[in-house]
Amino acid sequence: MAISLTHSIVCRPSSLFQRYCFRNFTVPFSSTYATSSALSANKVRSHKWRQPVVSVLEIGGVKIGRDDVVRDDPTNNVPDTVFSKLGMQLHRRDQHPIGILKNAIYDYFDKTYAEKFDKFDDLCPIVSVKENFDDVLVPADHVSRSYNDTYYVDAQTVLRCHTSAHQAELLRRGHTQFLVTGDVYRRDSIDSTHYPVFHQMEGVRVFNPNEWEESGVDATSYAAGDLKKCLEGLARHLFGAVEMRWVDTYFPFTNPSFELEIYFQEKWLEVLGCGVTEQEILKRSGKTNNVAWAFGLGLERLAMVLFEIPDIRLFWSTDERFTSQFSEGQLGVKFKPFSKVKHLSPCLWTMP
Ligand code: DAH
Repeated sequence: MAISLTHSIVCRPSSLFQRYCFRNFTVPFSSTYATSSALSANKVRSHKWRQPVVSVLEIGGVKIGRDDVVRDDPTNNVPDTVFSKLGMQLHRRDQHPIGILKNAIYDYFDKTYAEKFDKFDDLCPIVSVKENFDDVLVPADHVSRSYNDTYYVDAQTVLRCHTSAHQAELLRRGHTQFLVTGDVYRRDSIDSTHYPVFHQMEGVRVFNPNEWEESGVDATSYAAGDLKKCLEGLARHLFGAVEMRWVDTYFPFTNPSFELEIYFQEKWLEVLGCGVTEQEILKRSGKTNNVAWAFGLGLERLAMVLFEIPDIRLFWSTDERFTSQFSEGQLGVKFKPFSKVKHLSPCLWTMP
């Protein structure tokens, strides 16, 4: 998913976690004048566009009150506009492009792995700092932890900024092949390809020694080979017979790490990030004799290409001229533009 660390075009990486775009670490709760005044400016702005906000919502059986998430407290930087997106769960709507894409990916995994992957799509997006960062080895001084980049509910709690936040817990609970889909939150400027709320899918697969020992290759090469085969199959399932390439990259949670790119509509398009899970993550989850792979992909980025949706803000539109264009199971129906500027709510253009 195209999410930036800075506003500069040269340095707008697809992932918050890639090394080449680190910038100086900012202390999350710095009480400097600059930080607190930026926060109050945000609050003022969000009040201006405030829509009626539901005050209690339920996600995966957990009741969440507005006052649990939006608080007038220096450790909290969640505006009402962002709270209003919690519980919308576009990825659970079978007739929404994000839900249609999720289901198409589910179909691929069900078919390829005989329904062996466990699927999670209603895990609560409010997670601990430990789950979001520490458990997946994000360094203590990494920019993604900063108050500027992440929505903090309090000093120990955030709105997840990636679905990788659930990896360690699910491994600890004994899951060895799983997909996690959910809404993720990052503080960012808004434009046609960036929005502070978007959707990701995470996949993890763990192997036992007998699996790689039989193959005669070492554990890491075995997992990397299986990962590439799986994801090339997924890309063909979604995009047809496209040209693909693998690019080496860096993520704190995997080593080696890769990105998959496909040549689509005369451009190289980054599809996802992935790699062989760091042993430390497996070890902490009680898996000392295993190897695993993991991937993460941004659903909006792919849905925009597949459905030809030109602006990421349209995914939030309730205008019937948008919603009525998509039907369950219909991946890649081409979106027919209408006058979007007039019909999107003002807060979609300015939030947070
Ligand atoms: N969490 C990464 C992000 O938000 C995406 C990702 C990359 C997930 C590599 C993974 C992975 O599991 O192995 O940009």
